[in-house]
Amino acid sequence: MRDSRETSARHAFVTGFPVKHSRSPLIHGHWLKTLGLTGSYTRQEVSPEDFAGFVSRLKNGESGFIGGNVTIPHKENAFRLADRPDLLSEELGASNTLWLEDGKLCATNTDGYGFLANLEAQAPGWDRTDRAVILGAGGASRAIIQAVRDRGVGEIHVVNRTVARARELADRFGPKVHAHAMEALCEVSKGAGLFVNTTSLGMDGEPAPDFDFSPLSAGAVVTDIVYVPLVTPILRQAAEQGFLTVDGLGMLLHQAVPGFEKWFGARPTVDAALRQLILADMEKH
Ligand code: ATR
Repeated sequence: MRDSRETSARHAFVTGFPVKHSRSPLIHGHWLKTLGLTGSYTRQEVSPEDFAGFVSRLKNGESGFIGGNVTIPHKENAFRLADRPDLLSEELGASNTLWLEDGKLCATNTDGYGFLANLEAQAPGWDRTDRAVILGAGGASRAIIQAVRDRGVGEIHVVNRTVARARELADRFGPKVHAHAMEALCEVSKGAGLFVNTTSLGMDGEPAPDFDFSPLSAGAVVTDIVYVPLVTPILRQAAEQGFLTVDGLGMLLHQAVPGFEKWFGARPTVDAALRQLILADMEKH
């Protein structure tokens, strides 16, 4: 006879192309182990041509998965192919988390949740401000603009090298969101209580320009969604200038929580042991 726990084992995935660098299996593997749950979370490398087939096998139960995470370049297609995308995904046009419910494929995007949960944990009270500056207008900035707006911050200033991309986002996310070119950075930073870098500036040891954070309000929080290196040049400069900084690793950890709960039925916690596990892995690679 089969062990009843074995028959109820649930299997989830992370899919991307490529996907071998994803640290999500480490995160979910840690939670499965510490919560004593039977199940798996594995990498599934799927090319863009094969993605629709992968989703259809997920929907009809053939793949044996109950859901999973979706990363670059599949987030937009995951949203399009889902039966029940939620409102967050609808507005973003992209989903990073899929799960089956009543035979339907549901989809959400947990990046904004992860971003806010990380700020809440590392900089409680950050949302007392009415003005935020978001540097960058790529894929990663969208969920952050949405989350900061939905938290009730009154003015969100998106500053980008290509101002047309910032304008697109201002149009998408409504009247609280304003678009600017890089030259306006200093001006729009005046009195802001939150500064977020969503660009690749300073990633992987690349140099970043000098930033003057002095126009920000006293007690402003500066955060970077880049977490390799953990202390990016932007965070280093902000700390040197006396601002509270929040690194991007926590966003990666927190964005994984809602998916795990959907698939495996228990809400995991982001703790120091998990953070240490990922930091140790980062040292290896
Ligand atoms: P992602 O999906 O990770 O956000 P992306 O869509 O390529 O990636 O966006 C990268 C962001 O970093 C963009 O805002 C980009 O600015 P442009 O829209 O002008 O391309 C920004 N970026 C990348 N390199 C930059 C640089 N050297 N200086 C300023 N901004 C840069």
